[in-house]
Amino acid sequence: MNVELYERVWMWAASLLIAAFLGTILAMTAFHAITPPSHFETVDPSNLAANPEFGSPGVRPGPDGGVVVTVVAEMFDFSPNPIEVPAGRPVTFRLTSADVIHGFEVVGTNANAMAIPGYVSQFTVTFPNSGEYLIACNEYCGLLHHNMVAKLIVKKEAR
Ligand code: CUA
Repeated sequence: MNVELYERVWMWAASLLIAAFLGTILAMTAFHAITPPSHFETVDPSNLAANPEFGSPGVRPGPDGGVVVTVVAEMFDFSPNPIEVPAGRPVTFRLTSADVIHGFEVVGTNANAMAIPGYVSQFTVTFPNSGEYLIACNEYCGLLHHNMVAKLIVKKEAR
C-alpha cells in the first residue's frame, strides 16, 4: 500500500512539473509572440522591391553620426555586397530576408543576427579599426548555403 502511494505521489509531481514547463512555453508564445529579440518591426517579404528602404539596400547616414546599413538576404546572396562602413562610428545594421531564414554573421566579431522574412532585425556595432571582414550566412538555407558570403570593408576616414 505504501509503495503504491509513493508511486502516485511521484507520478503526480512529475506530471505537475511537465504541465508547468509546457504552460511556460505556451504563455511565452501567446503573450510575447515569437519575433526577433533585437527589435520588433515587420515588413512585407513578398514585395520588398516596393519598400522605400529595403527596395534599395545600402549604406546611409545615421541620426547619431554613424551609418545605417540596410541589408536584404536572399538565396544565396546578401545585398549590398561589399558593404563599406566607417571605423570608429556606430553602424546600425537593419536586416531582412526575401525568402527563407538566413544568418548574418560578421566573422570574428560579435555582430551576428538572423535575417527573418517578414521581420526587421536590427543591431548597432562600432568597428574600432579598419579592416576587411567576411560576412557569412550561418543558418542553413538551401543547397548553396555554404556559398552565401559577403565582404564588409571598414575604412578609417581621412581627417
Ligand atoms: Cu543563407 Cu544559409
